[in-house]
Amino acid sequence: MEHATTPNRVVLELASVARDAAACTACGLSATRTQTVPGEGSPIAQIVFVGEAPGAREDQAGRPFVGASGHLLDNLLASIGLRREEVFILNTVKCRPPGNRNPQKSETAACAPLLTRQLQALQPRVIATLGRHALAVFAPSARIAEVHGRPYARTEDDPHGGAMLFPLYHPAAALHNGSLRSTLERDMAALRGYLNMHAREGAGEATLREVDSVPIRPRSKRQGEAE
Ligand code: URA
Repeated sequence: MEHATTPNRVVLELASVARDAAACTACGLSATRTQTVPGEGSPIAQIVFVGEAPGAREDQAGRPFVGASGHLLDNLLASIGLRREEVFILNTVKCRPPGNRNPQKSETAACAPLLTRQLQALQPRVIATLGRHALAVFAPSARIAEVHGRPYARTEDDPHGGAMLFPLYHPAAALHNGSLRSTLERDMAALRGYLNMHAREGAGEATLREVDSVPIRPRSKRQGEAE
């Protein structure tokens, strides 16, 4: 699929989503948040990482994955030659659940329109879900132990423009379980292999701040896509 919008339009839509999130009271999480965590990264990212929910550090900073699991995520990205400025990092919900509990289904459902708008604006080639809760939002019937570390073609409804899912374990789980850490490292290497095959133009070299200087260029075709 060609990118339907220019990077500047993507930035405008992402900023609009961030404003709408900041004003959102669609679920109870709005009452306990310090601030929303809309996400960050390159507006021309070909890969979007979707975590579960902001934690305490993220709630304070207004940025995703800035705590210990964020540090591990940065290292995992570096291990496959990526910086966080080159990808986009989102969460299924934009507000911290109190006590870092898992987001409830009603909360991910309330936040889904914002996530969908972000993904429709970004039109990534790959959505890498982090952990089973993020995976459940995109593929409710998939089990992470069975599908991690390889592309997962969705049979469920896909409002996100046909991006390939690539389920990964959550970095926080890998921090607490040494064997999951090596699994996650292997899965990241597999993701690199997939990107090499399917996203040859790189992961997006512009940050949001640099976007005004981003040349507007069409995306290359996906494999098998008609000219
Ligand atoms: N865990 C998540 O799922 N998201 C964050 O932003 C931080 C930790």
